[in-house]
Amino acid sequence: MLKIKYLNLLPLVLQVILKQIGDCSIRRCDPADLIPVMEINMKTLPEHYSDYFYESLLSELPEAFLVAEIEGRAIGYIMCKTEYGFSNFKKLGFVKKGHVVSVAVLDEHRKKGIGKALVEEAINGVQIKKCDELYLEVRCSNTEGVRLYEKLGFIIKQRLKTYYRDGEDAFLMATEFQY
Ligand SMILES: CC(C)(COP(=O)(O)OP(=O)(O)OC[C@H]1O[C@@H](n2cnc3c(N)ncnc32)[C@H](O)[C@@H]1OP(=O)(O)O)[C@@H](O)C(=O)NCCC(=O)NCCS
Repeated sequence: MLKIKYLNLLPLVLQVILKQIGDCSIRRCDPADLIPVMEINMKTLPEHYSDYFYESLLSELPEAFLVAEIEGRAIGYIMCKTEYGFSNFKKLGFVKKGHVVSVAVLDEHRKKGIGKALVEEAINGVQIKKCDELYLEVRCSNTEGVRLYEKLGFIIKQRLKTYYRDGEDAFLMATEFQY
């Protein structure tokens, strides 16, 4: 019984700060962060997901499901998954790919380097899982997003026609890792 109680406390005591940007800490997401993460998603992006989907990404790839926190409050997140499929770089190559499903920072905390830190730490997370590449989709009109990813080494690989429900095209952007 004592053992179980102790285990329940583990997520609270073992939160490692991956990166600090001023008063903002980047750390792995905890199940208790999922509601705030969903709230940030609702405020910042038109693409929303079921509770189950958030939970499954957290259990599948906690190394790359991260939150940005200021004074105990989540203000940004990134969540990813892994897939096996054709390489975005090698012709006919079959590789393990990380996929950024969603990343966002609350409007009032943007342009402080938090988005960049989240993506950098997610790159470390998918590298822990030995992914060969990391890719994502971004609205063609999302210049902030495209510029951020380009700075971090992502390249536009494809234009996905009417990728979004409202008919907008996406850029598929990807980066390749060397180990
Ligand atoms: C895309 C997004 C996550 C970027 O987050 P962010 O925290 O603002 O990102 P950063 O601060 O790392 O970088 C953004 C800009 O701020 C600048 N910046 C970073 N630190 C800065 C500082 N201390 N002072 C001034 N500017 C700074 C960066 O150089 C960058 O400028 P640029 O766009 O001219 O190159 C954010 O705009 C967002 O949540 N958008 C809505 C959701 C979304 O579109 N998600 C992506 C979908 S794929």
